Amino acid sequence: EVGLPSLSPPLSPSPVILTQDDLKKIAAYKAVEYVESGMVLGLGTGSTAKHAVDRIGELLRQGKLKNIVGIPTSKKTHEQAVSLGIPLSDLDTHPTIDLAIDGADEVDPSLNLVKGRGGSLLREKMVESACKRFIVIVDDSKWVRFIGESGLAMPVEVVPFCWKFSAKRLQNLFEYAGCVAKLRTEKESSAQPFVTDNGNFIVDLYFKKDIGDLKIASDKILRLAGVVEHGMFLDMASTVIVAGELGITIKHK
Ligand code: 5RP
Repeated sequence: EVGLPSLSPPLSPSPVILTQDDLKKIAAYKAVEYVESGMVLGLGTGSTAKHAVDRIGELLRQGKLKNIVGIPTSKKTHEQAVSLGIPLSDLDTHPTIDLAIDGADEVDPSLNLVKGRGGSLLREKMVESACKRFIVIVDDSKWVRFIGESGLAMPVEVVPFCWKFSAKRLQNLFEYAGCVAKLRTEKESSAQPFVTDNGNFIVDLYFKKDIGDLKIASDKILRLAGVVEHGMFLDMASTVIVAGELGITIKHK
């Protein structure tokens, strides 16, 4: 006798909804697979890099990694690493870093980045330009067709002295792209300037149009007296790990 079709639907595992933070963690854990005992590591800053630093701390505690030296890219990461017992050093003592792992705000198909929403771009750039390999970890919301596509700001660290003058000059540089320069504040509602770990201010540049050649834009910004550094990380990333709902994509330079 042929059985009647079951009235209840077949049991299937309920779909797992991954949050953006889950994706960040997945990318971070994947990057830490590239870490080997004995390495000098650049430790990034931000909510994605935090997962990587946590994982490194965990592997050290478990004895699965040994003799790691970390070079933090911010005071916050320094504190986190200390709390995890990760031995730390600096660029003066370790001018060459084996591997740095850090997040980004935008990544384009040539693996150019915008960084610095967390305000740590100067130390990040110093550390990440001193490393043999730089792995960038992002969730797929950070993947863009061109730098500026997400509409997020491009941060520029400036000295506090006459910052309005610097902001105006930065805005004028990119008038052709409809640039608006805004001083970053501690909170959106406050006028209190955000102060970087280096005692500087951040001017965020918002563009209405494509700014064109990034190298030319970078050179123009860096030529302005009063500018310390900007958040474009051009030709620095060796590998980008992108975590999305459908899995991990790894892009190499
Ligand atoms: C901090 C940074 C961060 O790496 C970048 O802002 C990404 O942050 P998050 O991982 O929290 O999205 O550049 O200066």
